[in-house]
Amino acid sequence: MKYLITSALPYANGRLHIGHIAGAYLPADIFVRYLRLKDEDVIYICGTDEHGTPISITADKEGITPQEVVNRYHQSIKEAFDGIGIEFDNFSGTARPPHYKLASEFFLQLYNKDFIKPKITLQFYCEHDKRYLPDRYVEGLCPRCGASNARGDQCDKCGQIYETTTLQEPKCKICGSTPVIKETKHWFLQLDGFRDKLKRWLSTKDYWKENVRNFIFGLLDQGLVERSITRDLSWGVPVPLPEAKGKVLYVWFDAPIGYISSTVEWAEKIGQPEKWKEYWLNPETRLIHFIGKDNIIFHSLIWPAMLMGQDKKYCLPYDIPANEFMNLEGEKISTSKNWAIWVDEFLQDFEGEYLRYYLAVNAPEKQDSDFCFKDFQSKINTDLNNTLGNLANRVFAFANKNFEGKITACSLSKSAKLIIDEADAILKEIEECYLDYQVKKNTRLIMDIARLGNRYFDENKPWAILKENREAVNETLYVCANLLAKISVALFPILPSSMLKLREMMGLSDQFLFNEAYNILDDIKLTDIKPLFHKIEDKEIEAQIAKLHLQTKINEGDKVEFATSKIAPLKELISYDDFSKLDFRLAKVLTAEKIPNTDKLLKLQVDIGIETRELVAGIAADYEPQDLIGKTILMLVNLEPRKIRGINSQGMILAANANGRLLVLNPDGEGNPGSVVQ
Ligand code: MF3
Ligand code: ZN
Repeated sequence: MKYLITSALPYANGRLHIGHIAGAYLPADIFVRYLRLKDEDVIYICGTDEHGTPISITADKEGITPQEVVNRYHQSIKEAFDGIGIEFDNFSGTARPPHYKLASEFFLQLYNKDFIKPKITLQFYCEHDKRYLPDRYVEGLCPRCGASNARGDQCDKCGQIYETTTLQEPKCKICGSTPVIKETKHWFLQLDGFRDKLKRWLSTKDYWKENVRNFIFGLLDQGLVERSITRDLSWGVPVPLPEAKGKVLYVWFDAPIGYISSTVEWAEKIGQPEKWKEYWLNPETRLIHFIGKDNIIFHSLIWPAMLMGQDKKYCLPYDIPANEFMNLEGEKISTSKNWAIWVDEFLQDFEGEYLRYYLAVNAPEKQDSDFCFKDFQSKINTDLNNTLGNLANRVFAFANKNFEGKITACSLSKSAKLIIDEADAILKEIEECYLDYQVKKNTRLIMDIARLGNRYFDENKPWAILKENREAVNETLYVCANLLAKISVALFPILPSSMLKLREMMGLSDQFLFNEAYNILDDIKLTDIKPLFHKIEDKEIEAQIAKLHLQTKINEGDKVEFATSKIAPLKELISYDDFSKLDFRLAKVLTAEKIPNTDKLLKLQVDIGIETRELVAGIAADYEPQDLIGKTILMLVNLEPRKIRGINSQGMILAANANGRLLVLNPDGEGNPGSVVQ
């Protein structure tokens, strides 16, 4: 049997946070590591999802290309995965040429079978920006649940996807104006054409997780409507039809194809370019997609339909163990509010394995869970440090002190045997749970083995009988060492590097299989004993909580220009050096004119003493051009130039935001242009 495991391709549009890891990556990595311990044939495939409107919006904002955005985040995402030991066989990206080729092939084969049909549709169009507003270029109220900030393609709140023009109270994301509705041609996947096949296929999936099945049945009840799979955008896989100039495939059409193109890349890298077929073109392959719950619809209906419509006989998903969400300190994680724990930052303060452990203990498997720093501290301290770490410590320290680090294999008394049997029974249960994606339960079961060891050690009181019965003491140590060896296998998928350390200290091989956990150990010679874990102190946790609150506040501060009726929170302190870098000057406005097709923008020419500058100022809502001409104002002259509406804006004039009304600042008295403000 072959296993092909994937995790949802993360968008190359931001850093990874703990919610991502808890949902789709750690559970997959753990599953894969377990399968490897069972000597299964498994590959684990991922890559970044490099298309879609968020990436092109970021690029627009920063004045760089989408490819540059992609490169930056691909790298940072890869490093975060490395930092917490998520190990893919291949980590590709969907903006690579072979992916374009395969995505075009997918489209054309569906198109040639009439599963994709064109239609004239209505789309939001921004008159100001002179462009269509696909997906995230527009925001409004969700047509299904009424939540605000719903995007053109999907609502974050209820997870529903819908046709863009049904969005209520739409606003252009670039300029904030209300778009008009305009015709444009798009191509639609005829999901209904797959209805019988999909239903038959889904009817064999009674072993899927309940949350996933419930979601899908809800979707099926709503009917299989056709889905638009193209967009008016420049960034993406071009629609491979001559009449589709300027249009690209919808990101959700091309992204899952990335699972295949990444596998093809893997096969090439290992020098066996045909090998991907052994997985993808094999009906027996267990293709398992680990995803978050917002991705269920794409993986359970649209993607399987896309696969069914190909000439090649691709395998279909065997399972889709979607997780629920992880909240943070009782609130939904929000990247825009910066209410998130970023993996790269977390790794600067804590070991990656602590994060793995807590996300496993607290996995959002059946329902949303909550990342709470105090609970994180308590789980690491209680489970890892005081339970497992303590067992290893006391056994190893005792053996070192009294037996020169040697624990001798011996025949077991009845009561010792009972302990081993009990642990083996738990191991069996652990194996079942791994196969059933129940990582959370496994952390508990593994700690049960450690508790068993601690209790056994306490009850046998080796310190009390050392003098009269060294053999009995050796047996106690030997039983505990066996329990630790079992744990080093059972916990390995969750904490690979700590468990390798544990095995090294016990002189056990780093190459092992799960079944060996049921074996009884030979003689043991301990080497280089060190504590496996350490306690997390209160002050470390307090610092994290403070940082979390501060980072959201600062983020709100950034948005102060939109905050109307409340006073913006104070920003972080800066040094005098920081301040002295800012070159404020008096400037005299020479000309001012409205920039066509905008509400808020004026183009100004100003005299700053040494030279004349041109700049764009967003004050047209509050000032007529003629009110400004001849005025002396305050200006930041050493802000790096930015292209805004084709104008090279060289500096920024200062204005106070008084409840949303902008007030340009003037000097109190006459002053020559160029005078330094300090
Ligand atoms: N980028 C998407 C997300 O983060 C997931 C894409 S999964 C794939 O929600 F199947 F499309 F690749
Ligand atoms: Zn606009």
